[in-house]
Amino acid sequence: MAAFGEEFLSELRNRCDIVSVVSRYVELKKSSSSFVGLCPFHNEKTPSFHVNPAKQFFYCFGCHAGGDVITFVMKIENLTYPEAVNFLAESVGMHVPKSTALDSEISLLRKKILEMNRVAARFFHDTLMSEKGGVALEYIKKRGLLPTTVARFGIGYAPESWDSLIKHMQSKGYSRDDLKASGLVSTTERGMFDRFRNRVMFPIIDYRNNVIGFGGRALADDPAKYLNTSENIVFRKGENLYALNHARTNKLGSLILVEGYMDVISLHQAGFNAAVATLGTALTPNQARLMKRYTDKVIICYDSDAAGKNATRRAIEILKNVDIDVKVVTVTGGKDPDEFIKAHGADKFRELLDGSSNDVEYKLGEISFKYNLNIDSEKAACVREYLGVLSGIRSRVEREVYIDRIARETGLTKENLTAELETYIRRRAREEKKNEEKKAYSMLSGADRNKNVNPEAQRNLSAARAEEDVISLLLNFPQKLDKIEKTVSPDDFVTDFNRKVYTVLCEKLKENPSEEPQFMLSSLFEPDEVGVLIGYITQVGALSVDGDEIDAVAERLRSEKKKKEKSGDMSDEGFQNYLENLKKKGK
Ligand code: GTP
Ligand code: MN
Repeated sequence: MAAFGEEFLSELRNRCDIVSVVSRYVELKKSSSSFVGLCPFHNEKTPSFHVNPAKQFFYCFGCHAGGDVITFVMKIENLTYPEAVNFLAESVGMHVPKSTALDSEISLLRKKILEMNRVAARFFHDTLMSEKGGVALEYIKKRGLLPTTVARFGIGYAPESWDSLIKHMQSKGYSRDDLKASGLVSTTERGMFDRFRNRVMFPIIDYRNNVIGFGGRALADDPAKYLNTSENIVFRKGENLYALNHARTNKLGSLILVEGYMDVISLHQAGFNAAVATLGTALTPNQARLMKRYTDKVIICYDSDAAGKNATRRAIEILKNVDIDVKVVTVTGGKDPDEFIKAHGADKFRELLDGSSNDVEYKLGEISFKYNLNIDSEKAACVREYLGVLSGIRSRVEREVYIDRIARETGLTKENLTAELETYIRRRAREEKKNEEKKAYSMLSGADRNKNVNPEAQRNLSAARAEEDVISLLLNFPQKLDKIEKTVSPDDFVTDFNRKVYTVLCEKLKENPSEEPQFMLSSLFEPDEVGVLIGYITQVGALSVDGDEIDAVAERLRSEKKKKEKSGDMSDEGFQNYLENLKKKGK
């Protein structure tokens, strides 16, 4: 961890109020003494994400993410501690003292890979424009891309060669290890060679304008039509979107989600610069949350084949889960948007966009396509599926509109359809209630909270609870440090994680008696650990703090420790039974 001065950090915290920083990513509502919103770190429909302005920390009761403003930025922007500090300082125009801004190894590597990607992108682009790029340039022209488009997207060419890029990078001073880390090369027992050969190269640029990797399209007949940079610390397929750097500034107020790089590029060239694509994988919840930062409306425009339809259905659910309004465009006459634009032009595509259906219409359309309504048994099955879709609509008026339509289509009466729909709605409500209860229960029991951070806690629940109370006292009442330290020794702890936390905190609190303990966490622990510790802070509610309380907790801890020494771990079987019981209670 880099050592930023305490003064610098406290100035930074003063200028970066956690409520305003979090508000850039999450819609917060005031609720008594805190702010509440939908957690950006997991999917939820009812808000369990709290921001505490007095203590300047956030905590999610659902997924147990938590920490101060620095931890928040680390998590949401996927940065290391020093990177997050720099990011915040920049956002408020603060100068980061040079001597103290020591970069961690990981952020140095990240910087280096980004730099290498930039060098490689330039190399690929120059190669495309050189004599060696002839075939590729021909191909690009044949696909209708204009020179301005090639420049705007930084399109390039990786030559038919095993080591052109490697040689180029080595001439720029990069080592073999650097190359390996970058994912630009492949290694086998025979050695290292260029990963991309004879491919048209599409640099993938994130919303902060970093070149994070590449997609390469084969020019020759290759089983892998497209190939990406292998995943590394800067290239995470599931967390980025192609062309978001261009699209996020568009004025449509929505994003257009397509399948492929070429679809994006064709659409942008035709003036639809809201188009983005996933990086050769299905849409992930993280990508949906990324889109949600820029827009509330997404138009899905996938290929019209069976795979595209499946992907559309899944994408609708993922986008709905983060509260994005979804529309769907069905491309007819042309397999994908790229081909459509080429065959019919931009105006016709505009018409497609204007005629796009919302998610309900799309789903109903897909269902009706499957059934022959002239056959009674099929009609019944079709109506059942229709009603399943309608039961998910909250608005009565909207439901009525679709009931009308279905009545007309099937010849059934509105009254019957409405009555039947009511039973579907009640069933769905029951299921949702059950799920909410389960969720609430698992939140309360906290049974899953420590799973990764403190695995030992699962087998030593009572001891861990007492340890958490000790740490919670320390974090909430650092002025009682002396008394707590005299009463509780690290040896009293059962779980290694809590013992480490206790030891480290006692030491740091002695070094910095004036620092608020919740601000020390982000520099001392990993973000996941910080979340768990913030959870400890919030559970002190049950404790009234005076000297006796500390004695009582210490007493509890020591007796748990003794019990544990006598009996050893809870047996695996006992532990399984315990989990089973918890699950049953949760139902
Ligand atoms: P063109 O033939 O160049 O127009 O490509 P396309 O975009 O029409 O291709 P397709 O619909 O087959 O693929 C859509 C997207 O899926 C591509 O842009 C890639 O991101 C990804 N993809 C396609 N084929 C492969 C493959 O063989 N490997 C990987 N990793 N990704 C692929
Ligand atoms: Mn295509």
